[in-house]
Amino acid sequence: MSDAPALTRRDVLVLLGATAAACASPLADLPLPPAALTADPFTLGVASGDPVPEGVILWTRLAVDPTVADGAMPAEPVAVGWEIARDAAFRRVVAAGWDWAQPQDGHAFEVDATDLPTDTRLYYRFVVGDWTSPVGRTRTAPAPGAPVTSLRIVLASCQDWRDGYWTAWEDAVAQEPDLVLFVGDYIYENAGTDVREHAGGEAVDLAGYRTRYAQYRSDPALQAAHAACPWVVTWDDHEVDNDYAPDTPEDGASVTGAAFDARRADAWRAFREAMPLRAPKADADGAFQLYRRLGWGDLLDLFVLDTRQYRDGPGDRDDTDRTMLGATQRAWLVDQLGAGGTRWRALVQSLVMADLTFGGIAVNRQQWDAFTAERRAVLDAAASAPTLVVSGDRHAGLLAHLGPEGAGGDVVAVEVSSNSISSDGDVDAGEAAFKAAWANQEHVDYAQAARRGYALLDVTPDAITVTFRVVERVGEPGAPASTDASFTIARDLTVT
Ligand SMILES: [Fe+2]
Repeated sequence: MSDAPALTRRDVLVLLGATAAACASPLADLPLPPAALTADPFTLGVASGDPVPEGVILWTRLAVDPTVADGAMPAEPVAVGWEIARDAAFRRVVAAGWDWAQPQDGHAFEVDATDLPTDTRLYYRFVVGDWTSPVGRTRTAPAPGAPVTSLRIVLASCQDWRDGYWTAWEDAVAQEPDLVLFVGDYIYENAGTDVREHAGGEAVDLAGYRTRYAQYRSDPALQAAHAACPWVVTWDDHEVDNDYAPDTPEDGASVTGAAFDARRADAWRAFREAMPLRAPKADADGAFQLYRRLGWGDLLDLFVLDTRQYRDGPGDRDDTDRTMLGATQRAWLVDQLGAGGTRWRALVQSLVMADLTFGGIAVNRQQWDAFTAERRAVLDAAASAPTLVVSGDRHAGLLAHLGPEGAGGDVVAVEVSSNSISSDGDVDAGEAAFKAAWANQEHVDYAQAARRGYALLDVTPDAITVTFRVVERVGEPGAPASTDASFTIARDLTVT
């Protein structure tokens, strides 16, 4: 442990105020202790997330060797400098500072950069010893109520490393989005190999989950997507264990009881370390509040939901006490949705909300179809203003108009589900036909699972244009991408 006195971030900002105008890069002036590293620690790229009008979360993780759980880093704190500027050459720096990356955090480093210019494109980078990170591009949000004419969002989910290449991320970066919404299955916990191989066995402890995140982050396409714009992230099941509820592992799981509680805590902690989040650090049980609200001027409110940490396990789908959100999160959401204020709002969460049961025949126990009373309560609250529900999980592009029960009746929301970035790979015709049949239901406008991809959302005051982008195949890198279908959602929720 170094005994060098750390300046507070406030001290550094005061220092900057005096010198920023005259100095090309304040990083050179930071009293940054040297680092005892012999190789570049920026192998996992950079990321930003959860922008607000005057700030954004900046993230990196130090690993000299990303293939080992500790990154081949020294078991001591490492000093990390950071700066954020109006230009990619860092001539107009608006904030800078330094702090320690700690070994107990796996040398993950996160800073809440504040006092930034509102609604502004910005560039950031980190420095350790003689090494400087790649430059990330990010932005702050418009002020509450400020008029906004457009916002371009990439909606994505489900990137199983084993199932193929992440060509979809290359296409997503080319769209120059303002924001990425990622709605779960960022990693897959299982062992195995297909197109690509998961390093190590099944992730069941902190070292295993850290190694899995590091393998995923070593992919250049994913690094480029994080460096392109801020992300707003939530999780689904595979960040811990397939189809788990907090007290219930997957059927037939090798890890159960108190050992599952410990596994879950490690998985949650590893997720928190790996993501740029406006959220508290994980506690001793790995728990932290992931659900949150973010705004984008007068255009859009984002309600980011956690459908895993508080949910009930298997049970009667029509039991009125069943919950996916937990009582506290649901009360918060219903209260917030009642307040209104923006042209649009979006529920950003992992699981399909549309009724896909074909009249109760085919109930998926993970989805909102198994939580009918809570779905009704959420959609009742959403009905007060134009609402978009976004989801992932099923590895299918989907667009549906939602009645109060997830189907039928007056339309109260429109749902857009992203296809997978790679999960399920280049699927067989039978799987594709099964999911395409969802569109035989009156409330489903589009369902497609033959090719992998994501959804592009162009939000304007009067309409949201939804573009489903697909890649021809993921079994080999560099396949061409194209638009599979495009829809426009009007503010009266008609879809054309
Ligand atoms: Fe998935």
